[in-house]
Amino acid sequence: MAKDTERFLVTGAAGCIGAWAIRLLLDDGIDVVASDVSEDLRRFNLVSHPRRDEVDFVALDVTVTADVARVVEERRITHIVHLAGLQVPFCAANPPLGAMVNVVGNVNVFDAVRASGRTIGLAYASSAAVFGASSAYSGGVVADASPLMPDTHYGVYKVANEGTARIYSLHNGIGSVGLRPFIVYGPGRDQGMTSDATKAILAALRGEEFRFKFGGNLLMTYAPDCARAFIESARAAAGSGDSLVLNVPGRRVGVAQLVAMIETLIPEAAGLLSWETKPIFAPALLAAPALGDVIGDVPNTSLEAGVRATIEHFRRALADGVLDPAAS
Ligand SMILES: NC(=O)c1ccc[n+]([C@@H]2O[C@H](COP(=O)([O-])OP(=O)(O)OC[C@H]3O[C@@H](n4cnc5c(N)ncnc54)[C@H](O)[C@@H]3O)[C@@H](O)[C@H]2O)c1
Repeated sequence: MAKDTERFLVTGAAGCIGAWAIRLLLDDGIDVVASDVSEDLRRFNLVSHPRRDEVDFVALDVTVTADVARVVEERRITHIVHLAGLQVPFCAANPPLGAMVNVVGNVNVFDAVRASGRTIGLAYASSAAVFGASSAYSGGVVADASPLMPDTHYGVYKVANEGTARIYSLHNGIGSVGLRPFIVYGPGRDQGMTSDATKAILAALRGEEFRFKFGGNLLMTYAPDCARAFIESARAAAGSGDSLVLNVPGRRVGVAQLVAMIETLIPEAAGLLSWETKPIFAPALLAAPALGDVIGDVPNTSLEAGVRATIEHFRRALADGVLDPAAS
């Protein structure tokens, strides 16, 4: 499809990856409909774009079946990046609501594609939380096809989403790509269990103490890289008929190494950051993911470049007052 005939719908556009997806689509001159149940555009404003005011922003709760179908139809959507969801702590605090948003919301998006009767390229967010602890995998390495052993409600819901994608492919020929990011970091990443890496950078800049709730090794993906992978995956899914599920590459780093890097880049933060020793729930080593074979070159910014860019972005935002000191 020629890019000038594309119209993307991004759900969860007020979230971190969503805000970056909107920014990249605007950069590319692509028609985009941004949607979210929340009217808090704090992340959207932080990520920002000179053409931000032109964005078609629609209030959309993905749990409402008819509303999702209506937006897809009325706006003649050609591609969907489905990111709306509740993260690990929110699902743990309210499992029924988590299931409603993460599972029913995902079914609603697939069903809107089915109901449209048109070819729509669909990428949706799964998660590395579908996997178990590192110790469950030989050498701690996971591949796209490794066994799924979620140990959170959130992870179980994401496994369900991958199953939903498979059934809509089998029965309705709907092509989709589900992506499993591990730890996304960068401006806008301010909630969810693994947001500590980004919160630590912001705390260091503000001269505040911060303690990671976990230790061990991480697999970190810079938010714009992740957003790019979602956009290209939606394009790859269009008309494919397959339901692919792919791990998202990132950069492996120990929490202690990450803290040392932040302290090198922000010397005045020395001694402010600390961490628990308990490792994070998901493995931090990937067997070569097939994502690049599906969508072409996958940006995978080096950790130092991504952390530097995040620091610069936060410095500007703090100076411009875009990042309210109360918002973290
Ligand atoms: N950030 C990560 O490291 C990471 C890792 C793996 C998977 N994911 C998945 O990627 C997706 C996006 O992650 P993020 O970091 O941008 O999350 P985020 O929490 O920043 O954004 C999620 C957005 O979904 C919206 N939302 C919640 N309920 C909704 C509803 N009923 N209808 C419409 N919108 C609703 C929220 O308002 C929020 O703006 C999520 O599905 C998440 O589970 C994220």
